[in-house]
Amino acid sequence: DAASASAAVLSAPAAAQSAISKEVTVLFGSQTGNGSGLAKKLAKRLEDQGFQVTLSSMGDFKPNALKKVENLLVIVSTQGEGEPPDSAIAFYEFLHSKRAPQLDGLRYSVLALGDTSYEFFCQTGKDFDQRLAELGGKPFVPRVDCDVDFTDAAAEWMDRVAGALAEGAGTAAPAGASAAAALASGVTAAPGEASSETPVEYSRKNPFRAEVLENINLNGRGSERETRHLEISLAGSNLTYEPGDSLGIFPENHPALVDELIAAMGWNADESVSVSKEGDSLPLREALVRHYEITPLTKPVVVKAAELSGNAALKELLEPGKREELKAYLNGRDVLDLVQDYSLRGIPAQQFTEALRKIPARLYSIASSLKSSPDEVHLTVRAVRYENAGRDRYGVCSVQLAERVQSGETLPVFIQRNPNFRLPDNSDTPVIMIGPGTGVAPFRAFLSEREETGAQGKTWLFYGDQHFTTDFLYQVEWQRWLKDGVLTKMDVAFSRDTEQKVYVQHRMLEHSRELYEWLKEGAVVYVCGDKSKMAHDVHAALATILQQEGGLSPEEAADYLTTMQQQKRYQRDVY
Ligand code: 2AM
Repeated sequence: DAASASAAVLSAPAAAQSAISKEVTVLFGSQTGNGSGLAKKLAKRLEDQGFQVTLSSMGDFKPNALKKVENLLVIVSTQGEGEPPDSAIAFYEFLHSKRAPQLDGLRYSVLALGDTSYEFFCQTGKDFDQRLAELGGKPFVPRVDCDVDFTDAAAEWMDRVAGALAEGAGTAAPAGASAAAALASGVTAAPGEASSETPVEYSRKNPFRAEVLENINLNGRGSERETRHLEISLAGSNLTYEPGDSLGIFPENHPALVDELIAAMGWNADESVSVSKEGDSLPLREALVRHYEITPLTKPVVVKAAELSGNAALKELLEPGKREELKAYLNGRDVLDLVQDYSLRGIPAQQFTEALRKIPARLYSIASSLKSSPDEVHLTVRAVRYENAGRDRYGVCSVQLAERVQSGETLPVFIQRNPNFRLPDNSDTPVIMIGPGTGVAPFRAFLSEREETGAQGKTWLFYGDQHFTTDFLYQVEWQRWLKDGVLTKMDVAFSRDTEQKVYVQHRMLEHSRELYEWLKEGAVVYVCGDKSKMAHDVHAALATILQQEGGLSPEEAADYLTTMQQQKRYQRDVY
């Protein structure tokens, strides 16, 4: 059986083991923690199989050590426009440079994490796969590209990798792929097996139904914004988190949008559709509200809709030369647009829903500390509402939380760890926090935690939003922390109170001397919030400060920031 087989492997003397290498290196590059979680599970499993495993983040791995690696497993995610996660950038660049070593004896396999709603789906994993092959490596298990709902695909890849490695090394893989899959997915309690001794483990795969305790609007009357402060109970779940972690929520689509889609397709709302390979079925309306993603619109859905309908205009939009048109069309549109613009009425509901993916969870940076709010998790969520292509658009989860979730109701949730956004181990280390808008959420968690633990180091918060009077989220709390010394300094930038816009990066530049002093004292810089504009401009401001105050050249400033990232002295949670 599995247990005695792996025990035998562990107790076998080294000399008796196969001559084929039993050393495996598992490298991960991950922003959200999914990759590192999977890598740890894989490493544990291979160790149990008798392999000698080196487990490392790409950020900590000495690239030259690659020459000695015989079996390499890469688990890596992809960021927005196809870039590697921050912690993987240096390793990625090294591997793609002329300095990269020839890797002729290398056997490798890549697990790519990504999101099919992005154009450059799993690009970083694809790049690693291609580059390792170019350098002479042999892919012993083909790369697997995972969508947001990665658990099953990742478990299958691990089964194949573990099996192939065991075969190559002449050891039997532990029997029972399903047990292995359960291990990989972190689901330890099978349904029905849960007892008082083995509590159920809640996870993305098995979310906890958490009760909403509070749901209030933080913005004042007259604001253009609506930002909800939610307090959610984790009581009875055994779920814990640390400041920096996120909460995943599985949202529901807007019932009105679902009704319009059903009408546009001429479907019957009560028709039963099967929603899983196992044959579970739901009434169509409920399936579209709770189970399937209908917004945003993604390329895979357009591809399948073109196949199902045979629509010539749609096929044309998918031609290689039309990439930019397709991108522009997808932007801000949803499945209802597709159905209306290309008259897809007539495709049977069962066929059409099979083309849709399961609605992915939305992640929100946690705004509380368990030390000050036991059994609770707080969120800061801005309702996303805008107009596009002649129709009002609503962020799926944020508007559900703003309009359709009252206290007393429950939401399916799980904790998403984020090891890349953590308070410093040494609480005396100075902390600089830059978080305009809802980006301030994790800093409320940081300061709550530091207040409870009596942390002594200096802290500095940069915050901004549109208007002082209506949009100063959690104003009273920051002011109390300033008074109590939990927060040493605070600088705010309200962008629409003055003729000229002021943003957080302007405040940073105004204090460049002092900010530079803090950096020299070893401060850790945290940035949370908008990625494309704010985080980019804040990065540029940091580079300017290093040049202006530290006399660095532009290249030296860029290197300094890369080093800070590698040393976890510059951490970002941007979206
Ligand atoms: P704005 O919308 O008035 O331009 C939170 O959303 C705050 O971030 C708002 O005050 C918003 O300003 C501001 N913001 C927008 N673009 C930004 C950028 N490039 N850098 C920093 N802050 C920005």
